[in-house]
Amino acid sequence: MDRYLLSIDQGTTSTRAVLFTTEGAIVAKAQSEFPQYFPENGWVEHDPNDLLTTSIDCCQRVLKEQNIDVSQVAAMGITNQRETTIVWDKNTGKAIYNAIVWQDRRASVYCQQLKDDGLEPMLQEKTGLLADPYFSATKLKWVLDNVSGARQKAEQGDLLFGTVDTYLLWHLTHGKSHKTDASNASRTLLFNIHTQSWDKKLLALFDIPECMLPEVADSAHDFGVSEKSILGAEIPILAMAGDQQAALFGQACFKSGMAKSTYGTGCFLILNTGDKALTSKNQLLTTVAYRLNGKVTYAVEGSIFVAGAAIQWLRDGLKLINQADEAEILARDTPLSHGVYMVPAFTGLGAPYWDPDARGAIFGLTRNTGIKEIVTAGLQSVCYQTKDLQKSMEIDGVRPVSLRVDGGMAANAWFLQFLADILGARVDVPKVIETTAQGVAFLAGLQAGIFTSLEHIETAWNLEASYDPVMTKPERDKFYAGWKKSVKRVSSELN
Ligand code: G3P
Repeated sequence: MDRYLLSIDQGTTSTRAVLFTTEGAIVAKAQSEFPQYFPENGWVEHDPNDLLTTSIDCCQRVLKEQNIDVSQVAAMGITNQRETTIVWDKNTGKAIYNAIVWQDRRASVYCQQLKDDGLEPMLQEKTGLLADPYFSATKLKWVLDNVSGARQKAEQGDLLFGTVDTYLLWHLTHGKSHKTDASNASRTLLFNIHTQSWDKKLLALFDIPECMLPEVADSAHDFGVSEKSILGAEIPILAMAGDQQAALFGQACFKSGMAKSTYGTGCFLILNTGDKALTSKNQLLTTVAYRLNGKVTYAVEGSIFVAGAAIQWLRDGLKLINQADEAEILARDTPLSHGVYMVPAFTGLGAPYWDPDARGAIFGLTRNTGIKEIVTAGLQSVCYQTKDLQKSMEIDGVRPVSLRVDGGMAANAWFLQFLADILGARVDVPKVIETTAQGVAFLAGLQAGIFTSLEHIETAWNLEASYDPVMTKPERDKFYAGWKKSVKRVSSELN
């Protein structure tokens, strides 16, 4: 009888379930979108129940569509939008407030205060992160400070905190397992990535009762079993990982110096630094890539908030194209010397600028500028932002030897060639571009003994295409200098 691995990929705009063979090939997938809530300027929330019900529904659909007996699922894994914060009552299972999403900026004034108080170096030293509202701790503090009665209940031990992985696990196991993995814990701003434990000084700083926090486990671990009533039989949950770290694992970037970049709404470039936690001097994040048998593999990460979202804006906002793939056709028909730069700082700028108040702009317009130049500039802006991250990594002393890419934009060959040209590095695209779901399936398969080692998993990663740089260095430098000039001009310091 065939056996399978099931992944839940609970993302920011949709939830997916993907069923894999034990060799890592995709058998079936299902996807559901859910509402986004924007109660105030800069606030972003989800209903935690939507995250749970879409996860269960997607799992049921993939199993049913393929007519697979649940007992054939050897193991499942959970991967998730990271940092998003949920607090629930452990007696009722009900969240006491909506999930506060990673994009939410409500804690920005408090974070500025942390910076003004000179606390950022201490935060970076312990957690690898920065004083930015992106991470969980300040969102959790907001819930305890603002939801009536929350702090008292938390201190009595009645409330639990979790990122989305933890919330789903707790519900799938009917409250039996309150755990997270080290990759998710490393995004909370409460977890000491060197000692691999919740940090008492940080808990005191943010005023968080320790009894709310989940136990932190390896990324491949026996997390519990899903209750029989949910999917028809118990399924062992053997892996959890933050989605970007799962994609690094799915891209089989197991050696120090290997990097992946995922082009979804935003773009997250992560480089494996092995057993060394590199402290960035260039505003990159240090994070746990994965933890196996207690051994931590670290990574540096650059986060760009707008990548595919720039193309969405050209399509839905400006209506310059009808479909995202028209961008490639237009770019092919545009000479590179068009001189237009678009800086898509719609929600500020992420790494390496961390300027939440910067806003977007288009520069270099002439009477000859038309739709195709602006669309091409949109695609190029994503490449230039990736170059910014590559440069920061270089200054920090690490250089990706090549870049494995995935996500929606990995289907655009023009984009991939310009990316290779601007980076001056080879860009590789795998056969399976569902690398996030695949990463957590690999982790679950490792724990189940289906994959026997990382080398075994490497054999399941297959290359679809490579793009080598052909642009000369002077040309590359000239294009990039134009970007740097443009990005300076959107800085909030000029507003
Ligand atoms: O850090 C945020 C990241 O995990 C979100 O990923 O794919 O849900 O947009 P995604």
